[in-house]
Amino acid sequence: MSSELEEASAILKRFNQEHILNGFENLVENKQKKLIEQILDIDFALIDSLYANTKNDVNNCNDKIEPMEYLDKYKLNEKYKYYENIGKEAIRNGKLATVTMAGGQGTRLGHNGPKGTFDIGLNSHKSLFELLSDYLKEEGKKYDVTIPWFIMTSKENNEETIRFFEKNKFFGYQKDKNIFFFIQGELPMIDTEGKILIGEDGLIKMAADGHGGIYESLVKSGMTEKMRQLDIDWVFIGGVDNCLVKMVDPVLMGIAIDKKVTVACKSIVKANPHEKVGVFCKRNGKPGVIEYSEITDEMAEAVDENGELLYGESHILCNLFNIEAVERMGVTPLPYHSAYKKAKFIDTDGNLVVPDSPNSYKFEAFLFDAFGEVDDMAILRVKREEEFAPVKNSDDAGVDCPCTARKMYEEFYNLK
Ligand code: UD1
Repeated sequence: MSSELEEASAILKRFNQEHILNGFENLVENKQKKLIEQILDIDFALIDSLYANTKNDVNNCNDKIEPMEYLDKYKLNEKYKYYENIGKEAIRNGKLATVTMAGGQGTRLGHNGPKGTFDIGLNSHKSLFELLSDYLKEEGKKYDVTIPWFIMTSKENNEETIRFFEKNKFFGYQKDKNIFFFIQGELPMIDTEGKILIGEDGLIKMAADGHGGIYESLVKSGMTEKMRQLDIDWVFIGGVDNCLVKMVDPVLMGIAIDKKVTVACKSIVKANPHEKVGVFCKRNGKPGVIEYSEITDEMAEAVDENGELLYGESHILCNLFNIEAVERMGVTPLPYHSAYKKAKFIDTDGNLVVPDSPNSYKFEAFLFDAFGEVDDMAILRVKREEEFAPVKNSDDAGVDCPCTARKMYEEFYNLK
C-alpha cells in the first residue's frame, strides 16, 4: 500500500468514513489517485461538525433583528452629483474591479451548461455573459479604462465556461490581463447518518460551497493579489443571473469612499412582503441579511408610519467591497447552511441509488454572512426596473424567468 493510501485510510478510520475506499480496487489508476487526493484534502472534522449542526435547530430567533437605514439614490438631491463625482474619479483612476459569480449551472432554467451561457431569448441571442460584457465595455469607454473582470466558476463548469469564452474571443477582453477566471470551493455531500457520499464516478460526491466561499477563493486563488498589482481599491461582486446588474456605479462608489465604509450594497424595494429575496437588517447590531426562508410573516409584513415595509430593502447580490474587506473576509470562516437535497450515489454494495426524495445534505456559505464582520456598511436603494432582472426559473414559473428578464432588458435598453 502506498504511504498516501495508508495515510488516507487512517484518516477515514479516525472519522468513521471507511466506506469511501470500498470501491477503490475497481477504480482505474488516475481515479484512485484522485480519490486519495480528495481524502487528504477534506477537512473531516469540519464535516463532522456540519453534520452535528444538521441535528440542531439553527433558527436565529434569539438574534435581535432591527431594520437597517438606507439612502435612496433618487432622493440624494444635490448630494447625488457630489457622490457621483467622487466615484467617477476613482473609476477613471482604475480603482474598480468587478467580479461575477458564475459557479451555478442553469439547471432550474432547463439549460444544460453554465448559467452564464444561457440565452434569455433577445433578438441578438446574446448569452448572459455577453450581456454583462457589453455593459462593462460600454462603461469602460465612459471612463477611458478597461474595467478588470473576474469570473468565479465552479469545478463543475470551469472548463466549459472557459471554452465558451475562448469561442467568443473573450468578448474582446484579454485573458490574464483584464479578464481572470477562478474556481470556487467545494464540500462533500453527506447522508442522514453523516456518511460522505460516493458519486457515480467512484469519487467523493462534492458540491459547490455556496457564494460565501467567494472571499476565500479570491484570496486563495491569488486574485486579490492580482487586484493589488492592478492597483484596485474597490471590488464589485454581483451574480451572473441578473441581466441588468449595474456593476459600475459611481454614486455607490462615491458614497463608499465619502462615508469611509468598507462595504456598500444596493437594495430595491421588495415587490411584496413575500417576494423571495433576502432583506437587509441589523442582526445583533451588525449589518446582515435575513433570507426569505428565515423571515417570519409578522416581520415580512410589518410596516412603518408611512406604510413602507420595515424590512423592505431587498438584497440583490449587488455589493461593493473595499479590497481590504475582501482580504479580511477571505481568512475569516463563515458559517455553513445545510440544504437537504436529492443526490444519486453509490451504496456500500457498489450499487447506484437514485432517490426520489431528498436523502443528503449539501453545505453552503452565504456571501452576506460576512456582513456581520463589518461595522460600517452603506445601503443604496436603486430602481428595480434599472438594476434587477434576475433569471432564476424557467418560464413556467412566470417570475424571475427568461421572459420577465428579457422584457425588462428590452425596456431598459429601448430595444423594441
Ligand atoms: C439569492 C440570495 C438572496 C437574494 C437573491 C437575489 C442567497 C442564499 N440568497 O437567492 O438573498 O435576494 O439571490 O437574486 O444567495 N452562485 C455561485 N456559486 C454558488 C451559489 C451561487 O456562483 O455556490 C451564484 C449563482 O450563479 C448566481 C448567484 O450566486 O449568480 C445567486 O445564487 P442563487 O443560489 O441562485 O441565489 P437565490 O436563491 O436566488
